[in-house]
Amino acid sequence: MLETATIVDEILDLKKERRAILLAHHYQESEIQELADVIGDSLELARKAHEFEGDVIAFCGVWFMAETAKILNPDKIVVVPDREASCSLVESCSAQQVRAWKARNPGHVVVSYINTSAEVKAESDIICTSRNAVQVVNSIPADKPILFLPDMNLGNYVKRQSGRENMRIWQGSCIVHATFPARRLTRARMEHPTALVAAHPECPADVLGMADFIGSTSAIIQYCSQSEAREFIVMTESGVSHSLRKLAPEKTFYFVQNENCNCSECPYMRRNTLEKLRDCLLDLEPRVELPAEIMERARLPIERMLAVK
Ligand code: 13P
Ligand code: SF4
Repeated sequence: MLETATIVDEILDLKKERRAILLAHHYQESEIQELADVIGDSLELARKAHEFEGDVIAFCGVWFMAETAKILNPDKIVVVPDREASCSLVESCSAQQVRAWKARNPGHVVVSYINTSAEVKAESDIICTSRNAVQVVNSIPADKPILFLPDMNLGNYVKRQSGRENMRIWQGSCIVHATFPARRLTRARMEHPTALVAAHPECPADVLGMADFIGSTSAIIQYCSQSEAREFIVMTESGVSHSLRKLAPEKTFYFVQNENCNCSECPYMRRNTLEKLRDCLLDLEPRVELPAEIMERARLPIERMLAVK
């Protein structure tokens, strides 16, 4: 306990010394979220990074999120507590594969989920997040065919919501959400018959079909805390329980476990720890470094996304 308090003090001192901001995604450990200047979903964190004026961004999330912050702040230092904090969606889709896909499908608009590498973003026309994917696709003229990558569940959800037929979808998935089994959700609904179901759009279609609400991590938190219902089955990573407990302490939240690990935690997100956060502020490593040419090309599709209302 004493040791945790010491690390927290060290982090707070270093944050001041470095003129750093601490951005944390909802899937981080509670103790990291407690220290954050901003907690948010990937869109909110990208927006925060866009307006940042200090020297250092300590990004407590996964690497692609920190790359986005770096692309929006090429002259600032961006660090992540753990270099291995990746994402199964990023791993499923290389820039080389995307170039080949584009070559096989000329004339298509490339819409990339923010869960992609900087190199893939540089190959894209516009970026989206789970929060704005439907609006982003709707902002593209109806006669333009679309390549959507890399999340197939989000892509299929967007296709259903937008009614776009001319949309090809990459077959990537999230190792957490894609393995939430519908049968476990069915059982949870039987056990908690008055609970409403809130799901992230990376979940499979049969899970989404049972949801009362579908949205990004922040949108799920907002929905559950503002709803009049008292019980919720939450189909996303259990890190969101930190904000849910704070905003709605009187409500009950159930998390359905996935097939891989009998938990609902992202193994990449959970690589970050308080100790590693202290160390990255001290050493300013691991640091996001990207070729200037990639940053320049990747910035445009991100800015196009940020301009979509
Ligand atoms: P959000 O944009 O909803 O925060 O999602 C990010 C993510 O990685 C979901 O698994
Ligand atoms: Fe990637 Fe899934 Fe982890 Fe989100 S929860 S960072 S999509 S692996």
